[in-house]
Formats: sequence, structure tokens, C-alpha cells
Amino acid sequence: MNRFLASIAAALLFLTAACVHAQDGRAKLQVDLDDYDSIRRAAKIVAGNLWTYYHGDKPGQTPGILPGPHPAVPSGPYYWWQAGAMWGTLIDYWYYTGDDTYVNETRRSLVFQAEGPGYSFEPRNWTLSLGNDDQGFWGMAAMLAAETNFPNPAPDEPQWLALAQAVFNRQARLWDMEFCNGGLRWQIPHTNAGYNYKNTIAQVVFMNIASRLARYTRNDTYARWAETAWDWTQGVGYITKEYNVLDGGHVEHNCTDINPVQFSTNAALLIHAAAIMYNYTLEEKWRSRVLGLLNRTIDHFFPEGIMVERACELPDRMQCNVDQHSFKGYMHRALATVAVVAPFTRDTIMRTLRSSTEGCVSSCLADGTCGFRWNIGKYDEDVANGPAGQQMSAVAALSTLLLDQPHVLRGPLTNDTGGTSRGDPNAGLVNNDPEPMRPITVGDRAGAGVLTAVILGSFLGGLLWMGMGWSEG
Ligand SMILES: *[C@@H]1O[C@H](CO)[C@@H](O)[C@H](O)[C@H]1NC(C)=O
Ligand SMILES: *[C@@H]1O[C@H](CO)[C@@H](O)[C@H](O)[C@H]1NC(C)=O
Ligand SMILES: *[C@@H]1O[C@H](CO)[C@@H](O)[C@H](O)[C@H]1NC(C)=O
Ligand SMILES: *[C@@H]1O[C@H](CO)[C@@H](O)[C@H](O)[C@H]1NC(C)=O
Ligand SMILES: *[C@@H]1O[C@H](CO)[C@@H](O)[C@H](O)[C@H]1NC(C)=O
Ligand SMILES: *[C@@H]1O[C@H](CO)[C@@H](O)[C@H](O)[C@H]1NC(C)=O
Ligand SMILES: *[C@@H]1O[C@H](CO)[C@@H](O)[C@H](O)[C@H]1NC(C)=O
Repeated sequence: MNRFLASIAAALLFLTAACVHAQDGRAKLQVDLDDYDSIRRAAKIVAGNLWTYYHGDKPGQTPGILPGPHPAVPSGPYYWWQAGAMWGTLIDYWYYTGDDTYVNETRRSLVFQAEGPGYSFEPRNWTLSLGNDDQGFWGMAAMLAAETNFPNPAPDEPQWLALAQAVFNRQARLWDMEFCNGGLRWQIPHTNAGYNYKNTIAQVVFMNIASRLARYTRNDTYARWAETAWDWTQGVGYITKEYNVLDGGHVEHNCTDINPVQFSTNAALLIHAAAIMYNYTLEEKWRSRVLGLLNRTIDHFFPEGIMVERACELPDRMQCNVDQHSFKGYMHRALATVAVVAPFTRDTIMRTLRSSTEGCVSSCLADGTCGFRWNIGKYDEDVANGPAGQQMSAVAALSTLLLDQPHVLRGPLTNDTGGTSRGDPNAGLVNNDPEPMRPITVGDRAGAGVLTAVILGSFLGGLLWMGMGWSEG
């Protein structure tokens, strides 16, 4: 082919590509997934788009939260926990891309929302949605800050490692032998709907923090707790022989009425914890658990290589709630860490993250708006139950493809390998309030009608989280 024909062919190819990109009149996000700078530029656009949903940095607004938090303040759809997850996402964004745009507000927000006995992320405002998992998402963000040497808070403020230890300490004392021979309940306040549910997410968040504290501090007490959490969760049947990770059961049924729905966040936080335990103990049993979980995770959640939240993202309709619209990012972030601390998984994981991110990118517009469905090749216009969650997931998918950098491959830091965060093994216990958590009273809010709505909202939110209500019906 001579040069003239070649340039005509190239021009035709270019036009075809341009048509595809502009198929519905809107340009699509352009990114070359083989080029780290291109990924960085795309991630920055998507992160900027995510940031438009956060208003806590504006005058008169509460730092650290996404609009809501639902149901305590009915002015937005987001529960308190999701902002904690967003800060974790933005810490990873900083870690992988080096962009420090959100560093200051992330640090301020985590410290501000750390309110609670001994700085343990139990702020009074949000007790209506305070589950062990909700608190734990903030704790995991603090743990990640320690592992990545995220800029430390001022010396008179609570420190990252101590914040994670506070969450661990508060939860360890709630381990409940009265029912089901162990386990954590979902909710913390006795009056919250879902207090009788011992679900997988509560166990795996606790195990996740415990395993990472063990690795960071080399204190075996944490590792024993991580082991206990795994043993109980598996023993009660929430982790099956085939490594399916089911949702949970109720205390009045000795936790045998298992809701079999599989949400990706349970599997993601579990495989992350198992990989950390493998790295910390070098035990064969953890290696084989990682392999088993990875095999099942990929087969179940990445059909055809692109992530699908199968329990609610149905081929013909969408049943995912606001929470679930943010789940894909936690899976991508968890798997990226597994690839580093359990290197025998790396090739498989990077292949999966790459193909899934291709799907993600195909859902994004040029302004960084991304869809929830990643397997339809276009933006899905799904704005009913997000969209901050979709943006968080796309930021996560793009950022974690930047794995092949020395500071990332070195792995999460520990106290012995350069981690600078100061800890406190007794964090969260020092100023231990013996009184039960104060429920929000009618006087705190506009009136009894609002309170009823709030309790109902919390209950319905709980049903949604637990699998669209069929198990509770
Ligand atoms: C963060 O705050 C520090 C100190 O106030 C300031 O020097 C820095 O420019 C801020 N960084 C960003 C990215 O805004
Ligand atoms: C709790 O709500 C009050 C009133 O809106 C607000 O001033 C305060 O900053 C909030 N605290 C937290 C930790 O969100
Ligand atoms: C409840 O389940 C646990 C294991 O999950 C078992 O050890 C215990 O015997 C069961 N108790 C009853 C009353 O069935
Ligand atoms: C998982 O294991 C099954 C059975 O060995 C195998 O057929 C499947 O290809 C594996 N999946 C992945 C993603 O490795
Ligand atoms: C543990 O993790 C580090 C990264 O932090 C990795 O280099 C090392 O190979 C892992 N250890 C094992 C035994 O896989
Ligand atoms: C962490 O490291 C610092 C200095 O490197 C040391 O003083 C401290 O005792 C270590 N803490 C733990 C819990 O090992
Ligand atoms: C190890 O962790 C446990 C549990 O928090 C704590 O009680 C103990 O003091 C820690 N040990 C050291 C040496 O820090």
C-alpha cells in the first residue's frame, strides 16, 4: 500500500472512530488504557465530575458528608457511610495518580467525621444509619491513609492508624456470643432496624481492618481476630465451599436463615482481607482461600470480563439502590491491592481489571459523567440512584490500572517499612462512654412526623441493603 492510500485509510479509520464516539451527539471520554498519562488525565476529569456532588467544602455546609445523609437529613440520597467510602476512593486516587487536588479536604473530612468516643467514627448526627459496616468504611479509609502515608493530620488531631484502631477496638467489644455462637450484628444502636441481622458485611469489614492492622503493626492480636471473623463467617455458612459469599442471617434463627444474595462488596473486602492475611502469615490456607475467592469472584462478578452487580443489575431492569451504585469501585480497588500483596494473582487480576475498565470507559462521556452499566458500550443515563457512586467507581477503575509503579508495587506501608502514622492500641476505649448510644429524639428534629419518616426510611434502606426485601418480607 503506497503512502497516499495509507493516509486515506487512516483518515477513514479516524472518521469511523469519530462517528462511534459521537453516536448520540455527545462526545465520549477519550482514554488510551496503555498510556499512564492518558489514564491520569481521564481519571482527573472523572474525579472532577465526582467532586461536583460534594458540597461539604462550601460555607455553611457540614464537612465530610455527601448530600443527606439519608435518612437523618432527608435532603439527599446518600447515607453517611458512602462519603467515608468516597474519601477512601480519593486517597487511592491520590496514591495511584499523584494528583493532590483533594488531599486537604479529604484529611479535614476524615478528622471532622471521626467524632465519637475516643475518635471512633460514631458521630451522634448519624446514629440512625450507624452499622458496623458504615463505621468500618470510615475506618478503612483511615487505615488506607496510614498504609499510603497520606499527609498526616496535625499533631493535636487524631492520627490515621489510631482512628483505624479505634474502630477495631469499638467493634471487637461488640463481638456477640449470645446468639449464633459469635459474630457482629449489622447495626450498632439497639434501636436501629437490622440490629437482629448478623450479616457478612459487618464481619468482613471488621476482618479487613483487623488483618491490615496486624500487617501494619505486627501485633498478632489483630490477626487472631481476623482469623476468628473468617472462621465464624465460614462456619455459619455465609462463605460456601464454592466460595460464594452470601449476605447473612438473623439472630432469632441462630443465623441459619441465610439470605443467599451475593453482593460484590462482601466478596471484595473478604478477598482483600484474605490476601493481607496470606502476606502476613505466609500460610498455605490463606493462599488457597485467596485463589478460591478470586476464581469465584471473577466468574460471578465479571461475566465476559466486565463487572456486573448481578444481584440487582439485571439484564432487563435495574434494581440497585444508591449504595449499590457505588459497589464496583470497591471491587476494583480491593483486587488491585490483592494483586500487589498476593503477587501470584497479579496477571489474572490485571487482565480482569483492564477489560472491566474498558467497559467502564465505554460508559463515560467526555465531561467525565460515567454510567452504572459497563457492559452496554454507552452511557446508560442512569441517574435515579446515584450518581456519586458511579463516579466513585469510575475513578477507582481508572486509578487502579496505574499499578505498575514502584511505590505501588512496594505494597501498603507498615510501621517497619516507612509508614509514619502514629497509633494507639487503646484508641476508642479511653473515653469509653458507658451509656448506650443516645437515640435521636423527636426534639432533635422538626417533629414526630419527621421522626416516623426517618425510622421508616432507615427500615426501608435496610431492606434494600439486605436484598430488596425478599428475605424480610
Ligand atoms: C493544602 O493546604 C496547604 C496548607 O494550607 C496549602 O499550602 C496547599 O496548597 C493545599 N493544597 C491544595 C492542593 O489545595
Ligand atoms: C452534626 O450536625 C450539626 C447540625 O447540622 C452540624 O453543625 C455538625 O457539624 C454535624 N456534625 C458532624 C460530625 O457531622
Ligand atoms: C447455633 O449455631 C451454632 C453454629 O453457628 C451452633 O454451634 C449452635 O449449636 C447452634 N445453636 C442452636 C441452639 O441450634
Ligand atoms: C474457576 O475454576 C473453574 C473450575 O476449576 C474453572 O472452570 C474456571 O475457569 C475458573 N475461573 C477462573 C476465572 O479462573
Ligand atoms: C507481600 O507483599 C509485598 C508487597 O507489599 C510483596 O512484594 C511480597 O511479594 C508479598 N509476599 C508474598 C509472600 O507474596
Ligand atoms: C513503629 O515505629 C516507630 C519508629 O520507627 C517505633 O518507635 C515504634 O515503637 C513502632 N511501633 C510499633 C507498634 O511497633
Ligand atoms: C496489641 O493489640 C491488642 C488489641 O488491641 C492490644 O490490647 C495490645 O496492647 C497490643 N499490643 C501491643 C504491644 O501494642
